Amino acid sequence: MKHLVAPSILSADFLNLKKEIEMLNKSEADWFHLDVMDGVFVPNITFGFSIIGQIKKITVKPLDVHLMIIQPERHIEEFQKAGADILTIHYEACKHLHRTIQIIHSCNMKAGVSLNPHTPVHLLENIINDIDVALIMSVNPGYGGQKFIENTYNKIIQLKKLIKQKKSHALIEVDGGVNISNAPKLIKAGADILVAGNSVFSSKDPMTEIHKLILSRMQYKFRNQ
Ligand code: DX5
Ligand code: ZN
Repeated sequence: MKHLVAPSILSADFLNLKKEIEMLNKSEADWFHLDVMDGVFVPNITFGFSIIGQIKKITVKPLDVHLMIIQPERHIEEFQKAGADILTIHYEACKHLHRTIQIIHSCNMKAGVSLNPHTPVHLLENIINDIDVALIMSVNPGYGGQKFIENTYNKIIQLKKLIKQKKSHALIEVDGGVNISNAPKLIKAGADILVAGNSVFSSKDPMTEIHKLILSRMQYKFRNQ
C-alpha cells in the first residue's frame, strides 16, 4: 500500500491557521493530524472541539484526531460532532479500551490506539483485530520538535508481525520526530502513516517537504539499489 502523510498542525502558525490549512489542502497531505492534549496525561494543553470544528469547515481531508487525554471515553461523541474521522486514544489513558473502541465505531469513526515509547507492542495482541490504526509514538507525547527515538523501528517491525499473524487490517502510524531522513527507513520497517509536525512547518517550503515525505518510498529503493 502507498503510505499516507499526515502533517500535525501542532507546529503550525496559529495566528495564521486558516492560511496553514489552505496550504495543507493544496498539498499532497493525505490526512490532517490534530493533537489534543489535556495537561494531565501529558504536560501540555492544546485545543479541543471548537478548533477542530472550525478546521472541519475548511477542509475535505480526513481529520486524524490524536487524543492525549485521560478518560477519553467521556468525549467520543463530541469529537465525532466536531468532525473527527479517525479517533486515536492512548493505551495508557483508557481503562476500558475494548468498550471505548466499540463506542468510537458506533459513532462512525475509525478507531486508533496509541502506545507511548515505553509500552510494549504485545499489549495490543487482544485488541489488534478491533482497531483500524495502531499509532507508535516515536517521542514522548506532549510536544512537537522532539528527537526521534531509534527503538521505534523495532516496535514497527514487531507490530507488523503481530498484524500479519492476527490477519488484522490495522494500519501502522508513526508520530514524533519524523522527517525526510528517517521516513524511508520507517516505511521499510512497515509504517503506513507518517505524522510530521516540526519537519513540515519549520521548513521554508512546507508543500515541498510534504511532497518529499510522499516520495520517501522511492528514496528508500534508490538508496538501497
Ligand atoms: C506529540 C504529538 C505529535 C507532534 C509531532 O505529542 O503527538 O503529533 O505534533 O510533532 P513532530 O513531528 O514535531 O515531532
Ligand atoms: Zn500526534
